[in-house]
Amino acid sequence: EKLVTVQTLRKMKANGEKFITVALYDAPMAAMAQKTGVETVLVGDSLGMTVLGYDSTVPVTMEQMIYHVEAVARGNKKSLIMGDMPFMTYATPEQALTNATRIMQAGAHMVKIEGGAWLADTVKMLTDRGIPVCAHLGLTPQSVHKLGGYRVQGRDEKHAEQMLEDAILLDQAGADLLVLECVPSALAKRITESVSMPTIGIGAGRDTDAQVLVINDILGLTEQPPKFSKNFLVEAGDIPGALRKYAGDVKLGVFPEDSHTFN
Ligand code: KIV
Ligand code: NA
Repeated sequence: EKLVTVQTLRKMKANGEKFITVALYDAPMAAMAQKTGVETVLVGDSLGMTVLGYDSTVPVTMEQMIYHVEAVARGNKKSLIMGDMPFMTYATPEQALTNATRIMQAGAHMVKIEGGAWLADTVKMLTDRGIPVCAHLGLTPQSVHKLGGYRVQGRDEKHAEQMLEDAILLDQAGADLLVLECVPSALAKRITESVSMPTIGIGAGRDTDAQVLVINDILGLTEQPPKFSKNFLVEAGDIPGALRKYAGDVKLGVFPEDSHTFN
């Protein structure tokens, strides 16, 4: 089977074919995702909360991200592996370059950074030098203390326009993918149609080019699961079945359902 590349994902966007992302953190889950044909895996800094027990992603370090990117890269040789850059490791373009280099050398094929227009220079710095970048707009969990909680973003016209502008700027700066988290479905659709890079939604409706869920939510490990997630293990009965059901439902356009989206 062929490796998934940024070209694969652009082609899928052009053909209107949905692709699947799973946020996961270790070698066996990464191997399972590879076996079930998941196109991209994200070593998310959500690991601070899902596996390390912190109450936000703010405490996550470069060393922790590298440890988990290495584990995932050992378990998966087919999917495109994205690695999150942790809190305050990309505050300037130069700092981003130094730290993104370490994430790539740990085995990632792309780095992910949270933020809008202020990151345009960083995206250009990294992508010009051969490091693919996934941008992340909407609910950006590293900014939880500035946002005042984990809440839907872009609900009013002013913030919606700002998010659309940010997405276009990041696209023009050379970003390869864009995560939209907790964004009203109509806005996510508008952004997806306005940028050349594929968009990956989580709590962003059915009209993004791809979906991402956190493995803990897919498998019912989360005590208070977010509204946009779904436990696929209940119906599927085992872990590979749950991943196949999630992937299949996204490809068919039946996940997310209305109950998982914001208006
Ligand atoms: O850290 C993470 O898992 C993420 C996804 C939820 C997009 O950033
Ligand atoms: Na993250």
